[in-house]
Amino acid sequence: MSASKPGSDHPFNPERDELLIESYFTKPSPDGKLPEHGTAPRAAYGAVANEMMLDGDPDKNLATFVTTWMEPEARMVIAENLHRNYIDHAEYPRTAEISKRCVRMIHNLFNGPEGQETPGTACAGSSEAVMLGALSMKWNWKKRRKDAGKSDATPNLVYGADVHVVWDKFCRYFDVEPREVPVPKGKTVMSAEDFRDHIDENTIGVVGVVGTTFTGQCDDVVGIDAMLTELKGKGLEVPMHVDAASGGFVFPFSHPEFKWDFRLDSVVSINTSGHKFGLVYPGIGWLVTRTDDQVPEDLIFYEDYLGEKDATFTLNFSGSASFVLAQYYQFIRYGHSGYSSAVRAMTTNRESLADLLRAEDALEVFDDDRPTLPLLILKTHDAEPFDSNDLVGELARRRGWLIPAYQMPPNNENDRIIRMLIKINQTRELADALAEDFSASIKYLRKRGATKDAGPPAHTGHGY
Ligand SMILES: Cc1ncc(COP(=O)(O)O)c(C=O)c1O
Repeated sequence: MSASKPGSDHPFNPERDELLIESYFTKPSPDGKLPEHGTAPRAAYGAVANEMMLDGDPDKNLATFVTTWMEPEARMVIAENLHRNYIDHAEYPRTAEISKRCVRMIHNLFNGPEGQETPGTACAGSSEAVMLGALSMKWNWKKRRKDAGKSDATPNLVYGADVHVVWDKFCRYFDVEPREVPVPKGKTVMSAEDFRDHIDENTIGVVGVVGTTFTGQCDDVVGIDAMLTELKGKGLEVPMHVDAASGGFVFPFSHPEFKWDFRLDSVVSINTSGHKFGLVYPGIGWLVTRTDDQVPEDLIFYEDYLGEKDATFTLNFSGSASFVLAQYYQFIRYGHSGYSSAVRAMTTNRESLADLLRAEDALEVFDDDRPTLPLLILKTHDAEPFDSNDLVGELARRRGWLIPAYQMPPNNENDRIIRMLIKINQTRELADALAEDFSASIKYLRKRGATKDAGPPAHTGHGY
């Protein structure tokens, strides 16, 4: 038999193929069609691992809000439970119970009222949590309209242009008019007065963001709550949903006195991403509601599944239990003092990096006394011969830092800012190295006299 060429589409023969170096990486990776036959495990692993080297390095990704470091024990919890389907509540009742414990802990952290059974649900991320929270507001509004004998044909949702794209998605997918209010010129977040004229009897709710994707700052949720309370006094009931995708696991620790949560009367639901400052790898978000009954019965599905009656309020069905269990691990591992310490560590390293970068006369570093996520916003001065794009490109070239430079939303689009998330893996040593690279890059770009139109930036989006 003539030996077929290693790496070609031929039956896998371990004795022959595992010994031959050529069986690895001598062909482009399979694409478009399932390969006819298998490949040796090491070669298959190598194909995937090699291709991942072409991606950015998550440890140097300062664009993402998402957790990029967990302890070995936490990773063990994840690895040991990847095969456990979260939704099989009958077979895995402890997983379901642990998920409920997490909901109750977060509800308590967000100062929800006592006496609730399971005020919320685990989700794939904040996006699913947003959809479910907003759907609840829509259904509750429909009921109010029906009870009042009025039409429920034209629901709208009021939010600022500083929101994450998930809010536009919700409106489009679930047929709600998006009343997206531009961020006023010169401002970066929304206040009550920006929203007031856009609210009417068809408004299912108003969204307040605590920790925006653009700048990490917060909408004036206290002022918005006061305005909604005033409207309620005049007979117009409009609830608020708080998008705390990032802020939910920051502000309870950094600014416990900041009232952004269920301490505000109009807040009916909150989403938060366990996989951001909740310190879990991607795959977990939470919707928490003020009370158990915020989720209308119509949206809960009861099924007899594998012998048990089960109630679900999700958009997805199957998914690994790992990330719910990893969230619980983090809660008991760190506790309140541990999360506070993590947030302090991020803030301290952010401050140290900010101090070093303030010393660079090419840069303007933004400061804000109000509660803000542990991230650093800066821009290059117009007088420099290079701009933010040049600078982040140069930083990527030096030590592979992944840092976004992006435009602010309409009205303020001339502002192109650089944003860096300082997460727990961004230790002092790394922050100092990054500051050194900023210095060296600025010197280099000044000398080179970059053209400001040297092509597109390495990274155009603002990262999530
Ligand atoms: C404010 C805000 N809301 C919602 C989301 C979506 O969250 P997730 O990625 O967990 O679906 C993000 C993600 O960055 C965000 O920053």
